[in-house]
Amino acid sequence: MVANWFSDNLTRWQLNSRRWDPLHLLGTPLRRRRFAAERRRLLQPPVDTGNVEVLHNPAYQASIAQARFHTLLDHPRLANLWNYAQLVGPGAFLEVGSLRGGSALHLCHAIAAGTPRPLHCFDPFETGGFAALTPDDELFRLDDFLDTSYARVRQLLAPFPFAHVHRGFFPAAAENLNLGPIALCHLDVDVYLATCESLAWLRTRLAPRSAILIDDVNRRCRGVDRALAEFTAAFPEFLLLPLFPSQGLLLNRNLW
Ligand SMILES: C[S@@+](CC[C@H](N)C(=O)[O-])C[C@H]1O[C@@H](n2cnc3c(N)ncnc32)[C@H](O)[C@@H]1O
Repeated sequence: MVANWFSDNLTRWQLNSRRWDPLHLLGTPLRRRRFAAERRRLLQPPVDTGNVEVLHNPAYQASIAQARFHTLLDHPRLANLWNYAQLVGPGAFLEVGSLRGGSALHLCHAIAAGTPRPLHCFDPFETGGFAALTPDDELFRLDDFLDTSYARVRQLLAPFPFAHVHRGFFPAAAENLNLGPIALCHLDVDVYLATCESLAWLRTRLAPRSAILIDDVNRRCRGVDRALAEFTAAFPEFLLLPLFPSQGLLLNRNLW
């Protein structure tokens, strides 16, 4: 119990990019109280976990136990990722925006528990942040998300020979690679231009029964929402389904 409390708090601190900022740390207890109050107010009724099959799946539980120390994603988003990883048809998996590798690790476990296939993940890692921002990306700065390491993510995914970690901004970093048809893309890049360019690359490379699972949809990331609105208006064969709490599932109707 005490060990769990300690390791949870240590992880939260390690994942915090402002962990060495004393003013930010002093404010932590206050923010915690505010978040707890917000959770009590907004999550009424609470999530009913009774008999939810994915939560009782031993492979899923084992994956969450490891991935949670390396990801910003919360439990519902990791569950959605797992479920769609099992549902899509043949083809490669792609992740754009891997940061510390937690969601990529979760995808590796999903592949190990399901259909064998390659996973390609792309992120600028410590050299990156964002290539460009627009006024709609006001929540972010160009040098956000530098607190990661290509070598560490490669090491994290090393037990999975089907996982390939690519350093650089997508899609430029994929220019000379043949990734094959894509069955599932986890698109977690937060901002307008990276979302537009990733969708433009994906549009013609999707496999039958494929899906794009996009993070930060309807979460005040106006750049992501705008990119999706423009994309679905330009290509009406794509259908966007919002998922709780803040993802979107983008499907090409002609491929289902
Ligand atoms: C919210 S983080 C990803 C979180 C991660 N999926 C997790 O499990 O915690 C967003 C990441 O996208 C990266 N990114 C932004 N633009 C990108 C692009 N064009 N190609 C690849 N990665 C990009 C950022 O550098 C950052 O590491």
